[in-house]
Amino acid sequence: MHNLLQGKRGIITGALDENSIAWKVAERAKEEGAQFVLTNAPVALRMGKINELAEKCDATVIPADATSSEDLVTLYEQSTEQLGGKLDFILHSIGMSPNVRKKKDYGNLNYKWFLQTLDISGISFHKMLQVAEKQDALNEHASVVALSYIAAQRVFPDYGDMAQAKAVLESIARSYGYRLGQSKNVRVNTISQSPTPTTAGTGIKGFDGFLNYAEKMSPLGNASALECADYIISLFSDLTRKVTMQNLYHDGGFSATGITKEVIEMFENQE
Ligand SMILES: NC(=O)c1ccc[n+]([C@@H]2O[C@H](COP(=O)([O-])OP(=O)(O)OC[C@H]3O[C@@H](n4cnc5c(N)ncnc54)[C@H](O)[C@@H]3O)[C@@H](O)[C@H]2O)c1
Repeated sequence: MHNLLQGKRGIITGALDENSIAWKVAERAKEEGAQFVLTNAPVALRMGKINELAEKCDATVIPADATSSEDLVTLYEQSTEQLGGKLDFILHSIGMSPNVRKKKDYGNLNYKWFLQTLDISGISFHKMLQVAEKQDALNEHASVVALSYIAAQRVFPDYGDMAQAKAVLESIARSYGYRLGQSKNVRVNTISQSPTPTTAGTGIKGFDGFLNYAEKMSPLGNASALECADYIISLFSDLTRKVTMQNLYHDGGFSATGITKEVIEMFENQE
């Protein structure tokens, strides 16, 4: 351990169970000396195991539905009070599509659910940043990270309307990165992560298929949740102070690979 986050305070969203990317981030942030608040939607707090994590990390849990600006106001107020100062990092690790969950075909989307997908998985990031800015809850040089997926750039049919939500998310990172960079030297980035076996990930039809495909299409193999957490720690640290407004691929090289030997071999000798 390197004490990379010694003295830093933050908010970590989205830790549902030990498979969650946010769960690993919390464990790693604790090891690196950070103090933080854990938050999730009230319904997830009832279903998940967040209290187990909170105990382990000596963290408070504050419920907040990320689509509710009201909840977010309370979240920031209580977090800064609990932690004894403004925030140095925020992790947005939130995603859900009612259409994907209910296996709606892309040509038959329910538009009420589509709006919910955009609100929960995309616009909630704007809300988190808007409330943070209005409350002046961030310290100079704070770092904000949200998790994305390459379906924002390329088609993965079963990712459905989450593709649009991720495109919105990545665009918000640029717009707010500009704004908060100028006003407070705050960084805002998205990390485009490999397929990862979590509750959100495995909820996508054909997930095992594209997990295995991505593994074979990545020179370094798929990035795990723990490896993602390590990357996020580096972005929260002072070692990356000029990285902002980027969508950063953390995918073992998948996004830059046309084809690999393994995949060619699978298609050789076929009529
Ligand atoms: N698993 C993957 O393959 C993968 C790949 C790339 C990016 N991501 C992204 O990583 C992030 C974290 O997902 P994960 O894979 O760790 O799965 P996860 O299911 O463990 O986490 C998703 C979290 O979103 C929370 N959430 C849902 N609605 C909410 C709301 N209204 N308010 C607050 N929180 C809410 C859930 O309670 C849950 O904790 C998501 O943005 C996801 O899209 C995942």
